[in-house]
Amino acid sequence: MRKKLVISTGAGMSAESGLSTFRDAGGLWANYPVMDVASADGFARNPALVHRFYNERRHELVKASPNAGHRALTELEQWYDTFIITQNVDDLHERAGSHNVLHLHGELMKVRSMRDENRVYTLDKDNLDTSTETRDIHGDPVRPHIVFFQEAVPNIEPAIKLAQEADIFVVIGTSLVVYPAAALLNYVRPGVPIYYIDPNPAPVPSYVHVLKMPATQGVHELVNILNPDNQ
Ligand code: APR
Repeated sequence: MRKKLVISTGAGMSAESGLSTFRDAGGLWANYPVMDVASADGFARNPALVHRFYNERRHELVKASPNAGHRALTELEQWYDTFIITQNVDDLHERAGSHNVLHLHGELMKVRSMRDENRVYTLDKDNLDTSTETRDIHGDPVRPHIVFFQEAVPNIEPAIKLAQEADIFVVIGTSLVVYPAAALLNYVRPGVPIYYIDPNPAPVPSYVHVLKMPATQGVHELVNILNPDNQ
């Protein structure tokens, strides 16, 4: 029976792909008023601004590529049933070849109908921009398929289940300040090894194995640690 490896990633996972994190110096929230561009109230107040903010991030995303950390995570799939829970809205894990990716905060390359949230559309490379004028095939306005602050996190239940079932749990590149994602650590069964890869890690319990380094180096080390031939 293969062990279940559950990996929780944040913006630091994509930092070495050139995508800004949120709370590092010069990060997204240093340059944009978070409650104007990433909250339900902000979207209600000025939807055009929010559309523009996500359009800009899509144009950056299509120019970015998965980094060595994203790719190294796919190597773990040869030995473990590997599941990625990500707070990231980019598609770099998928583009690197990871198969089981659960997005907690939505997906940047997707938009959805404002009349029926089950109508979700994937934008393609040469059609990245949306606005308040954009209409779907039913003639309805669309919005970014992003979980704004003040909105529920629909995928938190399956994420908690994964954390509870993990035989190994890994956290990569997150400041652990946004809930409920930050709480996943608490659902891991006692005794299950936990690794945390981050060059500037948030405070975590002493039983967490901290690898104080960037994701590209940390995941490489993690693959060596978790390689069954080395155990
Ligand atoms: N490799 C690994 N981690 C890194 C790297 C790197 N090269 N560079 C920075 N980091 C770490 C930082 O030290 C920090 O701990 O990535 C983390 C980034 O933290 P945040 O910017 O707060 O990003 P995140 O934790 O993903 O934010 C959570 O907040 O704004 C919301 O919805 C947004 O999903 C996001 C959520």
